[in-house]
Amino acid sequence: MKNIVVLVSGGGTNLQALIDAQESGAIKNGRITCVISSKPGVYALERAANHGIGTRVIARRDYADIISYSQAVLDAILEEKADLVVYAGFMTILDELVVKAMPNKMMNVHPALIPSFCGKGYYGLKVHEEALKKGVKLTGATVHFVTEVCDGGPIILQKGVEVLDDDTPETLQRRVMEQAEWKILPKAVSLFCEDRLEVRGSRVYIK
Ligand code: GAR
Repeated sequence: MKNIVVLVSGGGTNLQALIDAQESGAIKNGRITCVISSKPGVYALERAANHGIGTRVIARRDYADIISYSQAVLDAILEEKADLVVYAGFMTILDELVVKAMPNKMMNVHPALIPSFCGKGYYGLKVHEEALKKGVKLTGATVHFVTEVCDGGPIILQKGVEVLDDDTPETLQRRVMEQAEWKILPKAVSLFCEDRLEVRGSRVYIK
């Protein structure tokens, strides 16, 4: 059974999708052992506590720089004996010292079809604002392994979502979550825990 540590910063709907998947048996050979938040008081922490999952707050504002913050997060991940770390709406770009310690063992959900609307500065609602501004007809979500390149790691799963004429950033965000993120994130996590993901170069093969 693999230990899954989930990193959050906000509402935690993706965390909830993982918890629901775990409780319905859709995540095979893994369980969420700890939720770490970069902010105190966020609703994701309550979601975890409601389901008996341990939580830690490692507040970004308590650390002077990103290196000391990243080291604190890594220490917690190692203490929790994480086999997999999932960024589920985690809004801090950690120093590469974390990913170097956990190569191909960290995954992120991004609310667009990478390589569109991704990289530094593209997070949360901003991603959907930019997709609408550009006028794309199709957007979606991506789950990928985390590397030192922001949103640049090997892609595990993607799912497309139609953009509607009357979409606002908020309605588009909601549809991308419902139709894509909440489906592909638990699926990718289960595939990892079942040892069915093989990374070769920049590609991920599902065994
Ligand atoms: C989600 O849409 C997630 O994909 C996005 O933030 C939202 C968090 O919602 N993440 C990023 O933009 C990371 N670059 P949640 O807290 O309800 O899961």
